[in-house]
Amino acid sequence: MNINWKELTFHYTETDYIVRAAYKNGVWEQPYATRDKHISLHVAATGLQYGQECFEGLKAFRGADGKVRIFRMEENAKRMQRSAEGLLMTPVPTELFCKAVVLALQKNMDYLPPYETGATLYFRPVLVATTPEISVGPGKDCEFIVIPTPIGPYFPNGFKGMPFIVNRTIDRAAPQGTGQWKVGGNYAASFRASEVAHAMGYECMFTDAKTHKYIDECTASNFIGIRRIGERQEYLTPRSSAILPSITNESLMTLAKEMGMKVTRRRIRVEELADMQEAAACGTACVISPITKVLDPDNGVTYAFGDKPGPVLTKLYHALQDIQYGRVEDRHNWCFVVE
Ligand code: PLP
Ligand code: COI
Repeated sequence: MNINWKELTFHYTETDYIVRAAYKNGVWEQPYATRDKHISLHVAATGLQYGQECFEGLKAFRGADGKVRIFRMEENAKRMQRSAEGLLMTPVPTELFCKAVVLALQKNMDYLPPYETGATLYFRPVLVATTPEISVGPGKDCEFIVIPTPIGPYFPNGFKGMPFIVNRTIDRAAPQGTGQWKVGGNYAASFRASEVAHAMGYECMFTDAKTHKYIDECTASNFIGIRRIGERQEYLTPRSSAILPSITNESLMTLAKEMGMKVTRRRIRVEELADMQEAAACGTACVISPITKVLDPDNGVTYAFGDKPGPVLTKLYHALQDIQYGRVEDRHNWCFVVE
């Protein structure tokens, strides 16, 4: 395979096969692999007309022991079911979801990056409604597709850290809207905010769309803050109905508790950044990406966290990656091992 694994970034690289399964007339077909990367979609499909679409993101890791591990695949399956239900789509059964991801891996083994390259094989499951309809309402037929692609770090600086800017002018998702689901429309709605932030040399930190006082998300990742309380460390992460429940964040919370940290999920005011010693964005794509500083342009304040990843986040980062790469025992049964 002529891929320079170490140079990979978070962009699409085509592999040999994708996997597809259609739902039609109340029946799911068995997932199958195909080399064709195009689907034939009716021009009036509700997925195209009204954005009735949702997706997922998960990774396979080539381990230190040569085995391949897919991280928390069933959690992604369950989250996609919640997203589908949120848009009145037909949910993909967990078994079908997992079968399709494993088939996508098996058919593209040459694209699985070698151990210690920092790259992984990312799977992008997509569910799109295919029923032709022009009246405003949901379609039930759909197409489920798993697109594999080898990827490198999501943020250009990877674990080195990124500056963020607080955004109060362009909302990503409403408190009682679709933010808790991984639906395409949320991402299209966030493009403009990210573009504004990028033009100023930052990544975008979203605040809650109602009051703009509380931290919601860091672009397409959850926020984590680390605060010292006496001898103990506290892991803080926002509670919000408009953010995606991150599987990475949930895993890190479990690891943080096991390390003796206090784990708190609650609304977090932007000014509370001043009490934190470390901060990061977390997600499948970016794992943990430390935040170097947060600029609040409306109040003329910068919260600085330093240019190097802090000790607590570094420890959490290694603890998570040790499980994903099979360097320690997987005590929580988070990895699906493909021999
Ligand atoms: N927040 C948003 C908006 C996302 O798109 C993602 C990525 O899936 C995350 C957070 C992180 O979630 P996870 O850790 O499950 O990948
Ligand atoms: C993630 O997987 O962590 C993400 O941020 C998802 C994004 C690439 C859509």
